[in-house]
Amino acid sequence: MQERIDELLAAARAELSQAGSDAALEAWRVAHLGRRSALTGILRSIRDLPPDERRAAGQAANAARQSLEEALAAHRDSLSRREDESGADVTMPGYPVRLGRLHPLTRTLREIRAVLAPLGFRAVSGPEVEWDRYNFELLNIPADHPARDMWDTFHLQQQARPGDLLLRTHTSPVQARVMEQVRPPVRVIVPGKVYRYENRDASHESEFMQVEGLAIDEHITMADLRGTLTHFVRAMFGPDRELRIRASYFPFTEPSAEAEMSCHACDGGGCSVCGGSGWIEILGAGMVHPTVLANVGYDPEVYQGFAFGMGVERIAMLKYGVTDIRSFYRNDLRFLRQFH
Ligand code: DAH
Repeated sequence: MQERIDELLAAARAELSQAGSDAALEAWRVAHLGRRSALTGILRSIRDLPPDERRAAGQAANAARQSLEEALAAHRDSLSRREDESGADVTMPGYPVRLGRLHPLTRTLREIRAVLAPLGFRAVSGPEVEWDRYNFELLNIPADHPARDMWDTFHLQQQARPGDLLLRTHTSPVQARVMEQVRPPVRVIVPGKVYRYENRDASHESEFMQVEGLAIDEHITMADLRGTLTHFVRAMFGPDRELRIRASYFPFTEPSAEAEMSCHACDGGGCSVCGGSGWIEILGAGMVHPTVLANVGYDPEVYQGFAFGMGVERIAMLKYGVTDIRSFYRNDLRFLRQFH
């Protein structure tokens, strides 16, 4: 008897798990718990058993009936939970969620930081509204110095004097701010926004980002600058990049240099990306000018170091093949969705 009941239970349970609708549930109930079901037949036949068997058989059959009723209730419950109050089927697949992404400039900035951090460069920041003194004076660019023409400046006051406020034209003023605060060794990078009074076109923005680098200690040479920048271009643009340094001029460095890397698009053969030369200019750099060191109270006889400054948009344009700097600031999702 018990064996037969166990078989019935197993079969009924298997069938129940397949029932996916109210109609199927009702059909199942009729088949397994209804008046003509095998289980009901067993319950009825108990009175025909010898008296000493009735009790055990009755208990077994009733327990089976109860367990099927509970299984039915539980299954009905789980089916109804698939519908919310409005009757909608909440198990239907939803609409795909559009994931947010990091802005290409954020990604580029993070990458620059990640490449330089292991070399000991700590990221610091400074104010975007800056004194003329930091943006120019302390960097060896006195008022009326012709080099001021290198930076078309948004002045917040009429004159251009040490006490005047302006929107910083580069991140270099943070060099002076850091050196005023700490004694060497110094090893910082300064990511940040800068402003220039420019006509905007495909390669110029009036607001853009730079990353400044500064390393000051007792025995720093131009070879350290070369090594740092070589590591930087290889980490950013691939292990085959070569670095080349050309003489340049910045008031706050001596000597000053322009760093170029072998073109990552043609490997130096010459293409449209590098204008056929095989080389791409990526940043300005140099050995910090003794006057700048003296201006912040460092003894130029003891300390020296290098500095560099790069445009983040330019790096991102090269890296991602973007041809118009303004794309970064248009908030056009068709552009932004390409970066992931
Ligand atoms: N501040 C310069 C600019 O915006 C870039 C630069 C050149 C920064 C040379 C440096 C440097 O630190 O050493 O044009």
